[in-house]
Amino acid sequence: MRAGGHGASFLSVPQAGEVVVQKFRDVAVAVLVSTALVLPALVLAFSSGANSGLTNGPANNASNCTVCHVFEVGIGGVEVLGAPRRYLPGRTYDLSVRVFDVDQVGAGFEVSAETGAGHVGTFVVSDPTNTQFADGDPNYITHTLVGHETSHDVWAANGGSYTFNVQWVAPSADFGDVTIFGVGNASNLPTGPEGEHFYANYAIAQFAVTGDADGDTDVDLRDFATLQQCFGAAVGLPSACAFVDDDADALVAISDYGAMFGVLLGPTAIDPPAFVLADAVRGAKLYDKWWAEARVPTPTTDHPLWASRPDTVSNTRTGSATWRCKECHGWDYKGVDGVYGGGSHRTGIAGVFGTTKTPTEIFNLLRDPADHAYTAALTGLTDEDVWDAVKFVLTGQVDTDSHIDSGGVFYGSSPLGSVWYGRACFNCHGEDGTQVNFGTPADPEYVGTVAVANPWEFLHKARYGHPGSGMLGTEILQWDIIRASDIGAYTQSMPVQ
Ligand code: HEC
Ligand code: HEC
Ligand code: HEC
Repeated sequence: MRAGGHGASFLSVPQAGEVVVQKFRDVAVAVLVSTALVLPALVLAFSSGANSGLTNGPANNASNCTVCHVFEVGIGGVEVLGAPRRYLPGRTYDLSVRVFDVDQVGAGFEVSAETGAGHVGTFVVSDPTNTQFADGDPNYITHTLVGHETSHDVWAANGGSYTFNVQWVAPSADFGDVTIFGVGNASNLPTGPEGEHFYANYAIAQFAVTGDADGDTDVDLRDFATLQQCFGAAVGLPSACAFVDDDADALVAISDYGAMFGVLLGPTAIDPPAFVLADAVRGAKLYDKWWAEARVPTPTTDHPLWASRPDTVSNTRTGSATWRCKECHGWDYKGVDGVYGGGSHRTGIAGVFGTTKTPTEIFNLLRDPADHAYTAALTGLTDEDVWDAVKFVLTGQVDTDSHIDSGGVFYGSSPLGSVWYGRACFNCHGEDGTQVNFGTPADPEYVGTVAVANPWEFLHKARYGHPGSGMLGTEILQWDIIRASDIGAYTQSMPVQ
């Protein structure tokens, strides 16, 4: 049972090595084949939980299940549910990892909580029948054999999904933004490390100051009003009550007035809470192709601003393409003043780089039915979705000229790029970037194709990931943008067809 596959203790995770990773895959398959012939019962045990360190997080260099499972693109996904948008010190949160994929028949998973500096908080195995610490490592929870089998039993009844439940106790102090990484393998039958669909996702939890009920990072009179509203009430009725329960006894009482100390300092918050809490990484994927990331219907009409674009001749696209933020504002965010100043994407519309508008102004502009028209009725986007996009616009953009020269060549270091690529991209895209074809068999498109043909798009995707896919980019690993630029330099020498 400890000889290979799940439960294998030989899995020391490769640091930089493409070759090392490839060997692991071969070993896993070899072990599978040999044990399958001799001891079929042991093979089943491989479904009995994954090795630790495979959640795609920075603590283990972005390693994930594709170390052994051959990566195939699927139509499902994984969601990390129940994670607090803001964690209060020492509180316990019920998290669940939901894997869904109507093409498959069951699932396995793993979860961890990390910052760029390491693991944070404490996991509790609240459902020991279906979940367990991976390799006994309390930083990772994975499925049990029973959990995996149960997922098969109820998969169809659950509409092609299964949810694993765990608990996470937040750290007792401010560790900054904590990313809860959740990965899932949607499994097929018969069992084996091939044919699974691997998905990765995350949820970000920000630190909450006790007393800051609305989440604008400031304890002010609005929060005092929450304390008054919650007074004497059991915590949990309005969820904001938890944030004014200073002594964490699940009751808002006189003893909680200490949390209101900040009121004495007067209001200092500048931005609305919804903006403070928004996720720029997700917003970047919405900027790319919002309906794929938000899983809402693809628009069919032209965007209302499309007809009035200053140049109606160069860009003849219609329908959904006209709704992508990038189509009007560019991959370099500079619109007509950047790469889309010429060629078949030219619209004549200005960029969003360096915008001086406030979060609320941008939110209103995007939601206005007579302007950008990203209304709930027309697009299915929620307020949270739109705030994520606003957060990206105001905090996630970079000047691409600092990373890519005017000829489209990355300034980054190719040798370093090979190291980062080996950690974060190799397992899915293969040694030369051709494992996943984004184009058609006749007209293939690979990592190298995008890196060479559109380095601005490449930089955006390498940093933020591909909307609606299992791909996480370098931002969620809290890697410096220089590393994405290095990956760009390295992949520009890969095959383009
Ligand atoms: C060390 C190699 C290895 C790693 C790493 C690995 N697996 Fe597996 N996995 C296997 C092998 C081999 C099998 C096939 C044998 C079996 O089904 O038990 C398998 C099977 C499975 C199955 C059952 C497949 C089916 O069709 O029923 C699930 C679910 C699964 N793995 C999930 C995961 C998840 C989730 C991860 C990452 C968190 C992961 N695995 C990481 C080797 C690995
Ligand atoms: C069909 C083209 C089009 C699409 C698609 C589009 N925009 Fe715009 N955008 C414009 C035009 C035109 C303006 C300037 C006029 C205006 O404000 O309506 C603008 C202005 C902006 C501004 C203000 C810039 C400034 O400082 O004046 C922001 C921010 C912005 N857009 C963000 C977005 C985001 C985010 C998306 C996707 C969710 C998006 N846009 C999609 C055409 C578009
Ligand atoms: C978990 C697997 C996985 C990992 C890891 C991963 N990708 Fe991807 N990547 C995908 C998938 C899936 C797609 C979408 C494929 C499709 O649409 O057919 C994709 C798409 C892309 C695209 C092209 C999107 C397009 O349509 O133009 C690029 C470029 C890319 N990835 C680069 C990278 C880079 C660079 C890294 C490392 C930082 C990386 N990927 C890591 C799975 C992954």
